[in-house]
Amino acid sequence: METLGRVLVVVPTYNERDNLPSIVERVRSAVPRAHVLVADDDSPDGTGEVADGLAAGDEQVHVLHRPGKQGLGAAYIAGFRWGLERGFDVLVEMDADGSHQPEELPRLLAALDGGADLAIGSRYVRGGRIVNWPRRRELLSKGANVYTRVMLGLPVRDATAGFRAYRAATLEKVGLSGVESQGYCFQVDLTLRTARHGLRVVEVPITFVERTVGKSKMSGKIMSEALWRIGLWGVTGLPGRLRRRGGRG
Ligand code: GDD
Ligand code: MN
Repeated sequence: METLGRVLVVVPTYNERDNLPSIVERVRSAVPRAHVLVADDDSPDGTGEVADGLAAGDEQVHVLHRPGKQGLGAAYIAGFRWGLERGFDVLVEMDADGSHQPEELPRLLAALDGGADLAIGSRYVRGGRIVNWPRRRELLSKGANVYTRVMLGLPVRDATAGFRAYRAATLEKVGLSGVESQGYCFQVDLTLRTARHGLRVVEVPITFVERTVGKSKMSGKIMSEALWRIGLWGVTGLPGRLRRRGGRG
């Protein structure tokens, strides 16, 4: 898989000080050549300082300090830009709380190596699993995916998934400047853009393990952003910039 080039794993954090050290450690041992970028939104619990400590001891660990809580999507866009500017060839998304297992990252990279432009770690394809989610959260997530499929006609089982690997070329083609999604609907937004550009999206089964430490940042505000934006894209065809450029190119 050396042919893929340089890999950057972007880990967004908001109040994850007790989760961060072990997730960084696991990424570094599962894929030793990968670099890690922690994108921290000035977490009140001091996650940013914990990240600085990890970066001080490992030249493949980096920190992007952001001025305040601006949402998961905004943190990823900043992290992707940071990586593209520095010539990384693959940009990975991974949660800090252990839900995404670094040990499964090689399978996402293998999918890119096999020709995918975007590899999604999917809970809802054969072999995918969820461990320890309350029934309510599982129904919400499945409902969100059904809503997304119906509204957008996307042939993807897990369009909201947050464990993924993009080729740099994919992000460059799709363009990040028109992306307005701030919260978790960022995932659907980029999936839709990638598919609409005719690029190849491949789903790889993963086991999603609910966090044992700290709290989810999912909120009513994040859900309502997802509902209205996905509904709008369903009606108008395409998100923001892509629509203004005109066409389903
Ligand atoms: N920098 C930054 N800013 N990080 C954030 C923010 C933010 O505003 N909000 C959340 N995060 C970080 C968390 O610290 C964690 O590392 C990661 O993003 C995921 O947040 P969780 O709050 O643990 O998300 P979740 O478990 O409820 O949702 C997961 O599953 C969803 C699909 O069901 C995530 O993977 C989502 O991306 C995914 O859509
Ligand atoms: Mn989580």
